[in-house]
Amino acid sequence: MHSVNDITLTTKETILANEAATLACGKRFAIILTPGLVVYLHGDLGAGKTTFVRGVLHGLGHIGKVKSPTYTLVEPYVVELNAVSSYNIYHFDLYRFNSEEEWDAAGFRDYFNPQSICMIEWPEKAEHVLPEPDIHVQLSLFKAGRKIQLSAGSPLGKACLKKL
Ligand SMILES: Nc1ncnc2c1ncn2[C@@H]1O[C@H](COP(=O)(O)OP(=O)(O)OP(=O)(O)O)[C@@H](O)[C@H]1O
Ligand SMILES: [Mg+2]
Repeated sequence: MHSVNDITLTTKETILANEAATLACGKRFAIILTPGLVVYLHGDLGAGKTTFVRGVLHGLGHIGKVKSPTYTLVEPYVVELNAVSSYNIYHFDLYRFNSEEEWDAAGFRDYFNPQSICMIEWPEKAEHVLPEPDIHVQLSLFKAGRKIQLSAGSPLGKACLKKL
């Protein structure tokens, strides 16, 4: 049994001096990800959440664009592990989400499954429908750059963060 304190002890903090550092941090984070994870991305408008996800997707071999899902609410990506297996990454931006009925109607519930990783900007906009997070990523302004804090929300998240 893991107590809440036990989980939250795993917190990592780093200063990101510029955009390239946020991208590089996302790339390092990509290595510890495992299908089934739910990652909440916290931080104000312009804090660097989408930039971080861009780094994650680049780290996983995605070479196309990573656009902000501000209007679509979610952008799907496929990560090819090898010739026969792959998993999905769903990048949500829920800033404009305002109807809980829409959650099921849009099929978002099904996006959360053991074969996918969900990374969610503005999770607080859909807190009543979202599954609990395994990892919290908090971005904030720090001098001319940003500060990032990673913390676990579940035993699975804690096990992943230990690998960083
Ligand atoms: N470490 C950093 N230092 C300085 N600027 C950064 C850093 N990381 C990202 N940025 C810049 O911050 C700006 C906003 O980034 P981004 O779009 O990722 O924010 P966001 O948190 O996703 O915002 P929103 O809530 O509006 O979706 C971009 O211009 C990006 O280049
Ligand atoms: Mg964004």
